[in-house]
Amino acid sequence: MAAAARRLGNGGLVAFPTETVYGLGADAANAEAIARLYQAKGRPAFNPLIAHVSDLSSAQRIARFDATALALADAFWPGPLTLVLPKAPRCQVADLATAGLDTVAIRVPAHPVAQDLLRRFGGAVVAPSANLSGHVSPTTAAHVQSDLAGRIDLIVDGGPVAVGVESTIVGCFETPMLLRPGGVPRTAIERVLGRPLLRPPEDPEADSDQPLAPGMLASHYAPRTRVRLNAVNIEPGEALLAFGPIMPAGFDRAAAAMNLSARGDLTEAAAHLFGYLRALDDKQASTIAVMPVPNDDLGEAINDRLRRAAVPQT
Ligand code: TXA
Ligand code: MG
Repeated sequence: MAAAARRLGNGGLVAFPTETVYGLGADAANAEAIARLYQAKGRPAFNPLIAHVSDLSSAQRIARFDATALALADAFWPGPLTLVLPKAPRCQVADLATAGLDTVAIRVPAHPVAQDLLRRFGGAVVAPSANLSGHVSPTTAAHVQSDLAGRIDLIVDGGPVAVGVESTIVGCFETPMLLRPGGVPRTAIERVLGRPLLRPPEDPEADSDQPLAPGMLASHYAPRTRVRLNAVNIEPGEALLAFGPIMPAGFDRAAAAMNLSARGDLTEAAAHLFGYLRALDDKQASTIAVMPVPNDDLGEAINDRLRRAAVPQT
């Protein structure tokens, strides 16, 4: 951990576990390190990054918190919630990391390894998911290794992550907006706010102009194999990504099959999602056929990632 913190301080790129997915960290104040981070991921530089800090008081040096933001931080930090807030006057996060926006995305991760690293390092760490841009997010150190070996300085292995989908992103605008469903269910946030979250524009292409969450590109989180959603029957040669105890027609013909949660548990399904997509992607199947997943709780984030995985890649 000491070596990892030192690497960050020297402008290095360090992958580390958070409770959602593995992140690829760089010193948020070091534009050169951030440029290398974008390069290592092959990520378009207009797609801004989340600044990770160890606690609320560190977050308040970066961004301005109103009463709503404080209520959300109090309820869900540390944890899988990211807040998009106006930058503080002396915000140390490099403009390259915020893609020139006057807002900044901040999160306080709960994972003990992430907390330890942030405390040792002392400053903010920007960290996108530690995968090649457009690939499925990593939920184990081995996933990071297979995407980024040779392109980054260090991987801290903290075992498989607990949540398995990225943080929920809330834009703290006049009316708070759900920019990305994720590890905190929308309903839990709405209970704290006492009102519904605005929804982002339905059409993902609408993001390309003046993006609210510029990272929400239509094709994202994508395996190389074609993905077919809401499968109720399986064609020969297809791989099956199942959910729940009841198998679809023709499942015995599947080239490969994995079940996100045989007992139909959405939390378990989220934890398995990206790892199973990666595993099925390696089976040389014609298609990954995915059974319907209910949209409650973490199901909203799961369905969001599945829809993106199913968009044809360009
Ligand atoms: O769970 C997570 O959030 C993981 C772990 C590593 O913390 N990180 C993650 O980062 O998912 P990334 O880079 O894959 O996704 C960050 C998202 C992108 O969609 C980006 O556009 C959005 O956050 N974002 C960042 N800054 C923003 C801003 N100022 N306004 C709106 N959206 C922003
Ligand atoms: Mg990502």
